[in-house]
This record gives sequence, C-alpha cells and structure tokens, in this order.
Amino acid sequence: MDRVATVDTVKGLREAVASWRGAGERVALVPTMGALHVGHLSLVERARALADRVVVSIFVNPTQFAPNEDFSKYPRTLDDDRAKLAGLAELAYTPLVEEMYPPGFATTVSLAGPAAAGLEDAFRPTHFAGVATVVAKLLLQALPDVAVFGEKDYQQLKVIARMARDLDLTAEIIGAPTVREADGLALSSRNRYLSDEERALAPTLHRTLQDGAARLRAGEDAGAVVTAGEDALAAAGFAVDYLALRDAETLAPVSDLAAPARLLVAARLGATRLIDNIAV
Ligand code: PAJ
Repeated sequence: MDRVATVDTVKGLREAVASWRGAGERVALVPTMGALHVGHLSLVERARALADRVVVSIFVNPTQFAPNEDFSKYPRTLDDDRAKLAGLAELAYTPLVEEMYPPGFATTVSLAGPAAAGLEDAFRPTHFAGVATVVAKLLLQALPDVAVFGEKDYQQLKVIARMARDLDLTAEIIGAPTVREADGLALSSRNRYLSDEERALAPTLHRTLQDGAARLRAGEDAGAVVTAGEDALAAAGFAVDYLALRDAETLAPVSDLAAPARLLVAARLGATRLIDNIAV
C-alpha cells in the first residue's frame, strides 16, 4: 500500500517547505497527534482546498498530558496513518520527542485572557500551555500559509487563534466543522476506549447540546438550560465536568444570545472523558 512521504527533523521539514515556497506554492499545515480518523482527514481535505501542498504533523505531545492522563497509552498507529494520508497530503512530519524538546528545553507559551480561562483549563490546568507551545513550535518550524484545526476542540481552536494573533505568527488559523458518527457522537481517537455499553450512551452528549441550543434559541433562560442539560447527562450516566455557554469568539462567559454563542461540554463516561460543543 502507498504511504505518504515522511520527514522527522526540523531541517527536513524546512527544506521541503522552502522548495515549495521557492516555486511560489502555498503551504498548509494540519497538526495532529496521529491515530487518524475521518475527522482528521476532513481537516486535510480542507487544507487541500486552501493550499498547493499539505503537511500533516503527527506528534503525541507529552507536555499537554498531565501525569495522570493517557500519554503512554495514547494510540500510536503511524503506519496506518501514513497509508491514510497517501494521495491526500504531500508530507507527514513525525518528529521524535527529542527533536521537539531537546535537552535544556526551557521555554513555554503562557496564556492569559478569556479564551484559555475556565472550561478545559479548570480540569486540565497544564494542558493549554503544552498545546500552545507545541503549536507555536510547529507553526515556526513549518511556516505554513494556513493551519487547519477542528471545531471539535473549540477552546483549543480559540486559544491557538488568539496566540497566533498575539505572537504575530504569520499562518492564517482556520477552523473546520466537527465530523460525527451517524448517531451524533463526535469522532475522537479516545472513542476507542469506550465499552459497548458506554458507546451506546455516548450520543447523549451531542443530543443534550442540540436540545440546549434549541431551548436557548427559543428564549429559555441560560441558567435553566444548563441545569436541565447537566441533569439529562447525569441521568444518562455521565459525570459532568462542565456545561457552559460562552461567547463564540472570545469564550468569555455569557448569559444571553446578544452575540454568537457556543455551548460547550465535557463529561466522563467511566474512565473516558468526552468533549463536544455546538453553535447557538
Ligand atoms: P488531535 O486530537 O490529534 O486532533 C488534531 C486535530 O483534529 C485538531 O485540530 C482537532 O480539533 C481535530 N479533530 C479531532 N476530532 C475531530 C472531528 N471529529 N472532527 C473534526 N476535527 C477533529 O488536537 C490535537 O490533536 C493536539 O492538541 C494538537 C493541536 C495536534 C497539538 O498537539
């Protein structure tokens, strides 16, 4: 089977990108942690439409996992990933941890402002510093014209867009819609951790968001909608970390629909933590 071409050093990546740039071509980057599914591939297709050359980075970034999280058991399926990208992307960038974080590495991006406050940050307080730092590095290593991220991780998308503006990173940050299973469950590399029973319950997450969005649009009070949603999730067997209405751009807390808003949720089914969100 065909495999996408791969480089695993910053030098190799820069040489490939420089040759394309020299020929006047536009370059897109799609950062991933691998274990690629149709959601990731939809980002690659979006990138294809926006640029002449597409680089997909595959790097399970240790600094965005807390010590109690799934870094060591996170799925690593590089050969499969390379086959899925054949014909879709020009290059996979697959650095080792030592290439990204050589001995003596001592700099991180520090986040301030509403995009990084609350929601995931309340439960994973070191997560976004790790994400922002690795994404800043990837954007500076590849110097793409555009970089594509999924709305699935909506807070991540907004944190990265804010960082790119604040640090004058030149890549345009593009958000792409969430790809779902037929029953509404957002595709995620972590869905494979669900038992059959949990998998059957998991679509309640998306249904609760749809129901909440409909009630908010119908003018129901935001506090009441959030409480009803939390109750519905608890009744289905979820342990809810948060269900929250936020401004769709800044992610500042809001209690009405005066500006475009987003309803975001994180909840655990057994040992698996799922996140999702919907436009309101
Ligand atoms: P990862 O979880 O591998 O996701 C890579 C990209 O795919 C992210 O932009 C994510 O939002 C997007 N994605 C995941 N599931 C999706 C779905 N169902 N539909 C559409 N897009 C989806 O997010 C990360 O990796 C990392 O934090 C990373 C940005 C690579 C930094 O390490």
